[in-house]
Amino acid sequence: MNDLTSNLDKTYINISLIYLKKILGSSFPNPPVFSILVESNKSFKDNRIISFGFTSFTGRPHAESNAIENVKFRKNKIYSLYSTLEPCCHNGRDESCVSKILNSKRIDRVIFSLRDPDPRVNGKGKKKLLKNNIHVKSDVLKELGSDFYQGYILNRTQRRPKVILKLAMTIDGYISTKKNKRTKITNQLSDAYSDSLRSEVDAILVGSKTVKIDNCVLKCKSSSFLKNSPIRIILNKKLDLNINSKIFLDCEEYRTIIFSNVFDKKKLKRYEDKKVEVISFSKNDFNLKEILKKLSNLGVTNLLVEGGGEIFSSFFNQRLFDQVYIFRSNFFSGSNGTKALEKKTDSSVLKLFKLETKRFGNDSLEIYKC
Ligand SMILES: NC(=O)c1ccc[n+]([C@@H]2O[C@H](COP(=O)([O-])OP(=O)(O)OC[C@H]3O[C@@H](n4cnc5c(N)ncnc54)[C@H](OP(=O)(O)O)[C@@H]3O)[C@@H](O)[C@H]2O)c1
Repeated sequence: MNDLTSNLDKTYINISLIYLKKILGSSFPNPPVFSILVESNKSFKDNRIISFGFTSFTGRPHAESNAIENVKFRKNKIYSLYSTLEPCCHNGRDESCVSKILNSKRIDRVIFSLRDPDPRVNGKGKKKLLKNNIHVKSDVLKELGSDFYQGYILNRTQRRPKVILKLAMTIDGYISTKKNKRTKITNQLSDAYSDSLRSEVDAILVGSKTVKIDNCVLKCKSSSFLKNSPIRIILNKKLDLNINSKIFLDCEEYRTIIFSNVFDKKKLKRYEDKKVEVISFSKNDFNLKEILKKLSNLGVTNLLVEGGGEIFSSFFNQRLFDQVYIFRSNFFSGSNGTKALEKKTDSSVLKLFKLETKRFGNDSLEIYKC
């Protein structure tokens, strides 16, 4: 029986993790969770998924609640609730998931992949379930679960988000083939994949010159991802971006934050009128570590850094990144463009491990981790 349930538990947690991938980036400010409810006979020989749930768009209700809601439990059956993350036990806006599980009075087993690193939970959910005679199994496919939740773990334990640098470059390492110009590097297939990456993160960060040169909007392009568009972050110490830039047209709907050095009320008001949030640090305190800490406090768990060259160099030199995605075209730029990394970048920090390579037509994508 033990072997049987152990294999079943791995299978159902694996299914939950596969579906978790599909909801990444959709539950800010809460972590995405996927749960499934399985009905078994007493011998565990007959098992079927009777319901599932995932974290709702604004973070509530939680996955476990959604999975249990409206289920018609039957007599003489065993019910196992599988979840990618430990069920929460703190009552916030709604009843906690542990309370919901206990109040259902029918769930016999709770199985999850990752212990919730949030200090309000961190094993307390499991403890409360055990105390109420629920059979609990934790750490099932923990390594896989930890990969999905790397950003959430970093947010709760190190007060910084997971940082992913995403560069599109030519064979010879240029991110633009003409200085101070936006030039196309990647093809449509790469662009579509980039768009899906945007939809999976909480926030996207660029330097002021990228906004000035590209007049970019930094939202998801595909209509199916648009509602998952991340918070837009711009680093602009001088706070001198043109207020009529495209990115400032719809900040009421798409949250936009500028980090600056400016405290001048008149200057700030121009941005506030457009619903742009400006967070100002004094010159001494303006640094990437402080910015990451601030973003973490705002709930950001995954941050996509999209350039340009000065920004990439800063993150590289300070080793403030966890993964690098390099989209590479099949053409050369020649020396008139903008280098992906400035000459003064310290190459000793570039010890990266390649995770995989993907092909998008003539482009390739290399994914590295530190
Ligand atoms: N292919 C790609 O993947 C890609 C992606 C994005 C952009 N681009 C291209 O890159 C070019 C722009 O890149 P760029 O290197 O000129 O400028 P950038 O990296 O976009 O912006 C640099 C500016 O950001 C501000 N900044 C604030 N804090 C910073 C920090 N800690 N580190 C670095 N910068 C900080 C500074 O201006 P303030 O004084 O205003 O603070 C700095 O001058 C454009 O041609 C664009 O098309 C390519």
